[in-house]
Parts: sequence; C-alpha cells; structure tokens
Amino acid sequence: MIAAIVYQLTRNLTPEQIKEGGFDAYFVDHTTGIYPQSAAGIPFSASALQCKGDPITDLFEDLAAEQKARTTYDNLLRLIDNPDVREPLKFLRAREIVHFQRFGDALRVVQDHLDSKNYYAFNPAVDLRPKPQPRKTAAPTAAQPSAAAAAPAEG
Ligand SMILES: [Fe+2]
Repeated sequence: MIAAIVYQLTRNLTPEQIKEGGFDAYFVDHTTGIYPQSAAGIPFSASALQCKGDPITDLFEDLAAEQKARTTYDNLLRLIDNPDVREPLKFLRAREIVHFQRFGDALRVVQDHLDSKNYYAFNPAVDLRPKPQPRKTAAPTAAQPSAAAAAPAEG
C-alpha cells in the first residue's frame, strides 16, 4: 500500500515539482521506482528483522515492532494533509494496533502454557525443565483403606 501511495504521488511530477518537493536526490538515484528506506534515507535491510528463537523474546520483539510501526504512522499523519494519503495510512495504523493486540494474546497463551513461570531466566522453547512430579500420597486413612488392606488374605 505504501508503494502504491508513493507511485500515485510521484507518477506525474514535473522536474520543477521534483526539485521543489525535495524529491530530487531520491529521483536521481531511483527515478520514481520504489526503493524501501527509512525517512532518513537508510535502505531497508533484513538485519532490522530480529528472531532469537525464544518465543517470549520474539513475541516482545513483535509487540515492539507493531508499536514502532503505529508510531511511524502517527508521525506521518501529523505531517500529511492530503486525504488520499491520510485515509490509507489510517487504515494501516489501525492494522498495527490489531497486530499488537493479537501478539499480546499470543504472549498470554504462551505464558499460560509454559512448564515454568520463570520465563525471564531461560528460553522455554530450548531449556526444557522437567515437569513437576506429583507429590507422594499420604498414608491411607481409615476412611480410605489401602488396596493391600482391602484385599482378602491369602491362604
Ligand atoms: Fe503490523
């Protein structure tokens, strides 16, 4: 969607508009092609994506990414007046909020199904802890005779 917005905004620009809009440096390098980069001009890199293989860590990373995306849309909406650009950005911003909520749901599910609540100290996907063993039962009481006591005597 962002690429489509950029395409719609740049497809009929005149050379004067390119210079006036501060689009000239980008235009020299990429014409009007879509080249993913930050607002500061840093090209997108897969190194920005993080995966540690720990479900708790990765879900927190996902949660942070969704909030960072929402903040970026908030900042864009503070700067942009064009309703044809604002409306799709508002849609994308709303999606980031839903993504954040779903990752939060996933985090709660993962935490609820861990063998241990000590997920701050180890990776629950790798450092498996033995499941707690049931406690040994207490000696039978008079109300609950043991199987041996209830069995008929041999002989
Ligand atoms: Fe998202």
